[in-house]
Amino acid sequence: MSNQNIDQIKKEALSEIQRADTAEQVKSLSVKYLGRKGLVTLFLRNISALPEEERPEAGKKANQVKLTLEEACQSAIERILSADGDKKEIAIDISLPGRPAPRGSLHPITRITRRICDVFSRMGFNVAEGPEVETDYYNFEALNIPKNHPARDMQDTFYVSENIVLRTHTSPMQVRFMEKHRPPVRIIAPGKVYRCDSDITHTPMFHQVEGLLVDEHVSFGDLKGILTAFVHEVFDEQTSLRFRPSFFPFTEPSAEVDILCVICRGKGCKVCSGTGWLEVLGCGMVHPAVFENVGYDTGRYSGFAFGMGVERIAMLKYGINDIRLYYEGDMRFLKQF
Ligand code: PHE
Repeated sequence: MSNQNIDQIKKEALSEIQRADTAEQVKSLSVKYLGRKGLVTLFLRNISALPEEERPEAGKKANQVKLTLEEACQSAIERILSADGDKKEIAIDISLPGRPAPRGSLHPITRITRRICDVFSRMGFNVAEGPEVETDYYNFEALNIPKNHPARDMQDTFYVSENIVLRTHTSPMQVRFMEKHRPPVRIIAPGKVYRCDSDITHTPMFHQVEGLLVDEHVSFGDLKGILTAFVHEVFDEQTSLRFRPSFFPFTEPSAEVDILCVICRGKGCKVCSGTGWLEVLGCGMVHPAVFENVGYDTGRYSGFAFGMGVERIAMLKYGINDIRLYYEGDMRFLKQF
């Protein structure tokens, strides 16, 4: 080997490095020339075989070549990286419209719950919320639901332990609120409730909105007026109401409220099973036994309560025919609200 030789290596190496157009190519050239068995490395290692007087000159030159090639590799990598960057910039067409970030929307149940609360708060009701895991006392006992009442049946109620249940309705909020406040009371209590039930009109978890109004001289007429205003507000003025006598242990008298079928307007269709009416809520005048449980003077105060299923109201409002659609998380369904 000679100086001639190292000049030759340098010339070839530089031209190869300059022609490289990927970082991988530069890396393998660096190995070819500067690696452990690279040509420059081998040259340096063989210097000892040269005639003594040539060694210093050859060593110096080879080290310079080594440095030159290292720098050439480095700048080749920089050249390639910045060319890649340029390519990327060119790939962005700034005249194209941007990609919109998809917007979420409120779940239909959230929307209707808010709507219901909104209508009642304009009528002077405040929103109260309470626990979903409830004691037997609040869910049943204080509401005048005796131990042998069918509503306590194991088939309907999820028991956490002997005296703790998942609330089966929002009515325990009546008792919780009255225990802490003196009349006048005007509240609505939205929230989740649980019943062991599942088919196209029932899910084990669903939502209710409870209403409670207590004051002096409250009559069934007030209840009718408030509920009529509510239905007209959420549906429309043409949606008439019908009060059917019913039974709840915590109200007396009790009623179930039907609204004129929003689909057929009373003619009879599949949705209303040909009756022309749809059941939307339960209500009644607060039972004196409930007032006694919270220490209200039954001679002085009277009140009414009602409870409605939010899923049901939303199904009627939006024309949804399967309750399970609410909880399957299908974007095609949810995006429509
Ligand atoms: N809690 C009853 C139910 O879940 C509804 C109701 C509430 C009835 C308030 C009367 C008064 O069916």
